[in-house]
Amino acid sequence: MSNNILVTRATFPEVLDKLRGQFDVIDNQSDTPWSQSELIARLQGKCGAVTHGSDKIDAVLLDACPDLKAVCNVGVGYNNIDVAACTKRGVLVTNTPDVLTETTADFGFALLMATARRIAESDRYVRARQWHKTGVHDMLLGADIHGATMGILGMGRIGQAIARRGAHGFNMRVIYHNRSRLSADIEQQCQAHYVSRDELFGQADHLIVVVPYSASSHHAIGHAELRQMKRSATVINIARGGVIDDAALAQALQDGTIAAAGLDVFEGEPNVRPDLLDIPNVVLTPHIGSASMRTRLAMALLAADNLLAICSAGAVDIAPLTPVNPEVLTHPLRLRA
Ligand code: DGY
Repeated sequence: MSNNILVTRATFPEVLDKLRGQFDVIDNQSDTPWSQSELIARLQGKCGAVTHGSDKIDAVLLDACPDLKAVCNVGVGYNNIDVAACTKRGVLVTNTPDVLTETTADFGFALLMATARRIAESDRYVRARQWHKTGVHDMLLGADIHGATMGILGMGRIGQAIARRGAHGFNMRVIYHNRSRLSADIEQQCQAHYVSRDELFGQADHLIVVVPYSASSHHAIGHAELRQMKRSATVINIARGGVIDDAALAQALQDGTIAAAGLDVFEGEPNVRPDLLDIPNVVLTPHIGSASMRTRLAMALLAADNLLAICSAGAVDIAPLTPVNPEVLTHPLRLRA
């Protein structure tokens, strides 16, 4: 097996040092994303890669890179990777769950508060020197968070961490919809009540979207769902672009179907629909849900540890920490030699 690995985007020095202790590392500290053909060319002859959401790992790439054994994605989401194609070819995929849960939940809550209480708009107002009178009773009125109904679409680890913040910290009524209902114990810990999709959209004052992106969650929120919501409602997307139909959302914000939105993720990011840029009642952030110093380092180190477990010399008996397709490991003939 080759001892060469690729790190596709800039990362922390301690992560590179760790990897360089075991591998010949080609990295991309310039941080300019490679084109698909550049990525394929650079991956050839590599046994593993530390990848990021901007890297598309598909069947064409896998067939062009027969030495590749492991794709270790930095991120809990891995919709940039065709996992079935990897599994078929014996390529192990790993992600970075858990280490980012609380940080991302903090961010979801921050975005909710900024959106409901119009913080970004207020900041722009002051900077634009528009604040001339104090004590104006109806200036920049927002919606309360405490005591309101929080709706959560997608109740995995991050959804649960947001629910705990809402229920225990802000005395919110928490309702959720998920592919499968949580156990009674977890519902009790999160103080969360399972509802149908229709009830979720109809009852939420603040809807937070945390569902992973897949073909089945594509445009899970579009015109019809937005029309089911209260006109006073806010929608927060910290999941993935494409779970919300951004065109439908822009229209709903403009015509008052809902009150406001907070978006950390976008269809076609880093490009954002131009109309969203001009709508005042939407808070826009550049996909930074997990971006605290400590958490981004922990994510990159976890990806490195996964790669070390799979590809380093003598790693035969060391299980990767967070495999996405562990079935590759239990079929040794399928794990690329
Ligand atoms: C994740 O972990 O999936 C974040 O969205 C970063 O890509």
